[in-house]
Amino acid sequence: MTRPKIAVFFGTRPEAIKMAPIVTALASDDRFELLSVSTGQHREMLDQVVDIFNLPVHHDLEVMTPGQTLASLSSKLMTKIDALLEDEKPDFALVQGDTTTVLMASLACFYRRIPTGHVEAGLRTGDMTSPFPEEANRVLATPLSTLHFAPTTVSEKHLLDERVATEKIFVTGNTVIDALHLEVERQKDPKIAEEIESHLASVLPSDWHEKRFVLITGHRRENFGGGFESICAAIAELAERFPDVRFVYPVHLNPNVQGPVEKTLGNLQNVLLLPPQSYRPFVALMQACELVLTDSGGVQEEAPGLGKPVLVMRDTTERPEGVDAGTVRLVGPVREKIVEGVSELLTDRANYDAMAQASNPYGDGNASKRILDAIADYFESKDS
Ligand code: UD1
Ligand code: UDP
Repeated sequence: MTRPKIAVFFGTRPEAIKMAPIVTALASDDRFELLSVSTGQHREMLDQVVDIFNLPVHHDLEVMTPGQTLASLSSKLMTKIDALLEDEKPDFALVQGDTTTVLMASLACFYRRIPTGHVEAGLRTGDMTSPFPEEANRVLATPLSTLHFAPTTVSEKHLLDERVATEKIFVTGNTVIDALHLEVERQKDPKIAEEIESHLASVLPSDWHEKRFVLITGHRRENFGGGFESICAAIAELAERFPDVRFVYPVHLNPNVQGPVEKTLGNLQNVLLLPPQSYRPFVALMQACELVLTDSGGVQEEAPGLGKPVLVMRDTTERPEGVDAGTVRLVGPVREKIVEGVSELLTDRANYDAMAQASNPYGDGNASKRILDAIADYFESKDS
């Protein structure tokens, strides 16, 4: 048989980061032909990742519009992905995670009877409204997928509970760790380290690494409105209580996030609002910070590997492995709990040290290799 053509779909910042090691490995793997497809669900934040990892992009569907609704985004994605499938006729497609790109690419492939592999399959909170709409996206992607690449045995168990056939599930680790290992290694290069330093010195005060700082990210839809107001009020209170600590916050470009953040935190002397940072300086910030305050999925997976305590501003998590390992704690989007959690870590050394144990429940950096081997086996068994 000719080499199977594998379409790799990604649309948002975290998908591109987690697909980057797969795209890179596929590009030099003689067993396959790579078709790399950006849906452009994100724009600037996605382009940052494409640049840093030097990713080939064979098609860019350019779907993003400012303030897009889930329905308008979904319908655009479906139409454009279907046209692409008609033209390119891939033999197999890979999707990653739980975004609208994932659900629409999975469904479009299913309609055209193109088998798919779901990377980061089986994450569940058990609550369809949290995170919203991501829990629904990943639950719905499961029955549409042919192969399921579960990052951990916890996610494998969720798939088995949903009656996915055991031989279709592969526990691979999370490709986020492949990407992180690659980046941490690259940052040992003095030239790259110097570039990062010079970039950070241009967006932060020149003494940025001399003072302790809390690194913050937040963008979840279920936190829009009241949740974000309470998150911002907590950060403002902390900034006043700890004048010698900085609160470094690269703000997501979603207007529902930018609005409340700029309104409440825009004029505080020790709160530093930044544009979204490219993955490279962001990894450097994770390594240098005191602790991380976030509602992000990917950051919950990366920070434990770097030995940084993480407080998660959500009521639920689909990533209990970090909580079990002791590096992650849920504080909800709740002002009092955020203030209490951060204050404790900034003042109580024993508590801090207990959480700052480096642990890596999400993989060993070889997830991409396992995924490509499983796809190769799938085609071999079809041919035999
Ligand atoms: C999306 C994903 C979410 C993921 C997050 C990662 C869905 C439903 N949500 O949420 O699961 O955690 O990405 O960050 O798939 N924008 C820009 N430039 C960009 C990116 C976004 O201007 O590069 C603005 C636009 O106004 C856009 C809005 O943000 O309409 C929302 O983007 P969208 O992808 O719909 O949702 P996110 O909140 O980013
Ligand atoms: N990230 C980044 N720059 C930033 C903030 C986050 O490169 O300014 C990276 C981070 O290292 C992680 C990913 O983006 O790999 C997480 O993306 P996000 O929080 O937007 O989405 P989620 O993981 O919640 O879906």
